[in-house]
Amino acid sequence: MKPIPTAALLAAALASSLAQAQSTGKLKVGLMLPATGTFAALGTAIENGFRLHVTEQGGKLGGREVEFVKVDDESDPAKATDNVNKLIKRDNVDVLVGTVHSGVAMAMAKVAKETGTLLIVPNAGADAVTGPMCAPNIFRSSFSNWQPGYAMGEVVAKKGHKKVVTITWKYAAGDESVRGFKEAFEKAGGQVVKELSLPFPNVEFQALLTEIAAAKPDAVYTFFAGGGAVKFVKDYAAAGLKKNIPLYGAGFLTDGTLEAQGADADGLLTTLHYADSLGTPRDNAFRLAYAKSFKLQPDVYAVQGYDAAQMLGIGLAAVKGDTGKKAEIAAAIEKAKIDSPRGAFSVSRSHNPVQDIYLRQVSGKENKLVSVASKSLADPARGCKL
Ligand code: PHB
Repeated sequence: MKPIPTAALLAAALASSLAQAQSTGKLKVGLMLPATGTFAALGTAIENGFRLHVTEQGGKLGGREVEFVKVDDESDPAKATDNVNKLIKRDNVDVLVGTVHSGVAMAMAKVAKETGTLLIVPNAGADAVTGPMCAPNIFRSSFSNWQPGYAMGEVVAKKGHKKVVTITWKYAAGDESVRGFKEAFEKAGGQVVKELSLPFPNVEFQALLTEIAAAKPDAVYTFFAGGGAVKFVKDYAAAGLKKNIPLYGAGFLTDGTLEAQGADADGLLTTLHYADSLGTPRDNAFRLAYAKSFKLQPDVYAVQGYDAAQMLGIGLAAVKGDTGKKAEIAAAIEKAKIDSPRGAFSVSRSHNPVQDIYLRQVSGKENKLVSVASKSLADPARGCKL
């Protein structure tokens, strides 16, 4: 006669089959990105890039078939906590990937930190995510808002400009990009004479452009992205400012936007961790594969999505897909050199890329590489205790 299993034996069997499912079943990736609004195209590029890497790996990461659960976060911080909780609690995702908007990303980071869920941020630069909110399970494949801003502060000072007006959206990304710019520019002897802003995602720039014309600065520094960046560049030119007051920006100003901006973007100088003409074998192969798959040219967002998938793949390969082994996953990503189309990078102690920031100039439909503005630039990770 078969002995009746005790409760303890049953529990052990259940735990072992759960662990088995955790390391061999489908890997559920919660993709929280904007599918609507001014950042919609950025969300698409990130998802495309992520999927491209997964496809190159035969549809698997860490030996597990990848399944996506998607949420349109609408770049709305007010809906962010509900959205991320749905992915974790209702859909039971194994990992979170998102998002574009800094305010939404901070809400994601808070929940990830509380629940211990692995989070990879494929765009949003919120300094806090790899600053005061840093955590062993939170990584970024993109940049901090400080990084391109700081690099541009040095460039604009070297050009000999003394007085600059800044203009951006009033939220974490805009504020922090301007702060990074100002830190480097004022250290080099320049002065930010006026900081203009409007609420995200407004695009009524006219009154602010009139203020810029009246202030007559030597140059303007700006952070805008997506649909807002398209309109800002066109309005700046239409107001007659482009020929009199040079416009500089974090590279989002002209990334993924050049088709729509046309000649109004020509000649603009920006700083970013990617350019369209790096010409390395790694980047050429990526660009070709991306263009073939999606009938689109890749941009910085596509690269960041691709690298988020690479980072996740590296972490999961080290534990054969067992997402329960959180410390080992983190350790593998921490010591990795990620073979990015932008150039290989590793992450800092706070889990943000340490990377070259390029100076680029718009020519035709491309952000052409001019030079390396800042070599291996690391975010200062102020407030991160890891
Ligand atoms: C952000 O909110 O952090 C953000 C959004 C769009 C960008 C870059 C940064 O292109």
